[in-house]
Amino acid sequence: MGALGQLDPMIAPMKARVRNLLRASYYSMAFGRSRILGNALGAVVRRQEESMGCGDVPMAAGVWDKDYSGGRWKYLEGMEQVARYGVISGYIRQFKRNGAVLDVGCGTGVLSVHIVPHACSEYVGFDVSEAAIREAQARSFEPGCAVSFSAADANTYVPGRRFDVMVFNEVLYYVDEPFTLFERYRNHLADDGIIIICSFRLSPRAEAVRQGLEERYKLLEKVEIHRPPKSWACCVFSNARLGNK
Ligand SMILES: C[S@@+](CC[C@H](N)C(=O)[O-])C[C@H]1O[C@@H](n2cnc3c(N)ncnc32)[C@H](O)[C@@H]1O
Repeated sequence: MGALGQLDPMIAPMKARVRNLLRASYYSMAFGRSRILGNALGAVVRRQEESMGCGDVPMAAGVWDKDYSGGRWKYLEGMEQVARYGVISGYIRQFKRNGAVLDVGCGTGVLSVHIVPHACSEYVGFDVSEAAIREAQARSFEPGCAVSFSAADANTYVPGRRFDVMVFNEVLYYVDEPFTLFERYRNHLADDGIIIICSFRLSPRAEAVRQGLEERYKLLEKVEIHRPPKSWACCVFSNARLGNK
């Protein structure tokens, strides 16, 4: 083996380290902060994320459909995740019991099982995956809360009314422009309404989205959920921007 051949086993890990460093730098310094740097680096990072098969980035509806049909997201109904839904359910009861809830990117409606009918008077869930929505629509609920599920893309969906509570439960990092999207949905939130986000901690993209929101909007409550090896941050925002960011 020549000298270059001997270097081969070291090159792949080095490349991976450089890729991870670039991704981390982009999300900590450019994403949602600097338009020029963000645009320049964003395209490069996006290509890398595609080649790395990252699971915390925007994906086409067809990919979600395939994953749901294949049972990949079934684990969301398991014990590992139950604290996450329990915390969101608790916040809804504490802040806005009996309000109207919009669950953006509701998946198969796991959250609805925790809050209907006791924590809300109306629950509207939608998701880009038709396969997930078919599963959600097969659920049955005790009377006392109007429930609806539909298939729609959060990027173009327009809420048909003002909601007391909006939930983005592990969803915002799957859209291209999370800050623009969040601001648009805020226009359909009651003046005294709340927005709850739950965000995976071990993803640079998810962390950048959550930190960006905490810098822009008034945080009412926040808790971290640790369920090794996973952890999440769950935040409640009021309908108020901070400064002019
Ligand atoms: C990690 S899953 C979380 C599902 C659900 N919120 C929960 O916690 O049970 C992310 C969800 O976001 C949905 N999603 C991704 N992009 C979306 C978009 N553009 N519009 C609506 N839903 C989207 C996916 O189909 C998927 O159901």
